[in-house]
Amino acid sequence: MKFFSTIALVAAGLANAVHGDAVPWERLDKNNSVLLILDIQVGLYHVARDWDPSLYQNNIRAHAELGKVFDIPVILSTSADTGPNGPLPKEFIEMYPNAPFVRRQGEVNAWDNPEFRAAIEATGKKQVIVAGITTDVCTAFLSLSLRAAGYSVFANIEASGTTTELVRDTANDQMARAGVQMYSLFAIVCDLMRDWRNTPGAKDVLPYLDKYMPVYGQLARHHAAAVEVGTIIPGESGLITGKNGSLIL
Ligand SMILES: *[C@@H]1O[C@H](CO)[C@@H](O)[C@H](O)[C@H]1NC(C)=O
Ligand SMILES: *[C@@H]1O[C@H](CO)[C@@H](O)[C@H](O)[C@H]1NC(C)=O
Repeated sequence: MKFFSTIALVAAGLANAVHGDAVPWERLDKNNSVLLILDIQVGLYHVARDWDPSLYQNNIRAHAELGKVFDIPVILSTSADTGPNGPLPKEFIEMYPNAPFVRRQGEVNAWDNPEFRAAIEATGKKQVIVAGITTDVCTAFLSLSLRAAGYSVFANIEASGTTTELVRDTANDQMARAGVQMYSLFAIVCDLMRDWRNTPGAKDVLPYLDKYMPVYGQLARHHAAAVEVGTIIPGESGLITGKNGSLIL
């Protein structure tokens, strides 16, 4: 009897632990999301040393353009941008001339700025897609505050940058423990799109991927070229199931 009650207690304890740690599974929904371009400033760019700089520039541009591709609201914010952190890249400001742009004069955590909080609340959206420099300060501080305030947070792990891989991994772990969803760019794109047949769907997303995610862009080019001008060369025909094969109806 004692044995069984111990098992029951252990099982109950485990169940609680799992329950307590679990992040409710939730899908990114373009109708309920807002994109943050947070402190991705030209001075801070030099602090993002956990990425190859050319790749990182590609990644932050890809992050910024998500708002245009999926027509979701965007909020821009900077931290002390007249000082060493510098301004936002001008392309981002030009991309969203009508978006709220909160130039924080001192607050490190954007959530400490009432204008920023009001801008988030004014969107009425509950899912916040975020990336910033640095991962451990700008992205993590705000993401944790957003979680505490009841928002769902989706961190674009490819568009935040920081000093070292150790710092990045530690900050990402910290956010994940607080229920921040850690998403790659491709995962964000695919969950916002949901279905290639949607609008926006393949027609809008493939040119975007061609620009920012060449592994998929080149894949699409390869497929298009094969269909438009391709021929099967000796040795290839046996590698696929043909038009009359059992797998293609
Ligand atoms: C977003 O809203 C549109 C229009 O109401 C609807 O067709 C679509 O299914 C919604 N998307 C999601 C993911 O709920
Ligand atoms: C495939 O099927 C079509 C129609 O059934 C037929 O005309 C054609 O010859 C077939 N092709 C091959 C390679 O078997």
